[in-house]
Amino acid sequence: MTYQFSEKSEQRFQQIKDIFPDKRSLIIPCLYLVQKDKGFVDKEAMQYVANRIGEPISLAHVYGVATFYTMFNKKPVGKYHIQICENISCYIMGSDDVMRHICKRLGIEKGETTKDKKFTVTGVQCLGACGYAPMMQINETYYENLDLKKVDEILDSLE
Ligand code: FES
Repeated sequence: MTYQFSEKSEQRFQQIKDIFPDKRSLIIPCLYLVQKDKGFVDKEAMQYVANRIGEPISLAHVYGVATFYTMFNKKPVGKYHIQICENISCYIMGSDDVMRHICKRLGIEKGETTKDKKFTVTGVQCLGACGYAPMMQINETYYENLDLKKVDEILDSLE
């Protein structure tokens, strides 16, 4: 089935489509709408966004933005998308231990989704909570000052 904005996303698009002086500024909000609608942004959706924004925005522009930012999922993710910050502050404070622990517990490698489609684990760049390192984001929620005990409690609450 060919993707198009949901009714809610279409309403939002109509609200924002004329407020930016430069059409390039519409790319990120539109990609967010797509991700909200279908959970990920594939090439079909990128083409749709390019078409909806119109000239001079091309698929190449949209693709460039979607692939630059890690917050856009390029493939389907599990019900809980665990994004572990791997940038310097979090790394120094043990994000690699957090990553290893979560992957081992879920029986998957970084970048994979569990067979039951419940969890996806990815490594991401700085999420802007460096003072609370190590940290991770699960869907829209930040979990900070992590240690392995805290990680287990969080995963227990989701299983
Ligand atoms: S380095 Fe992890 S949130 Fe900034």
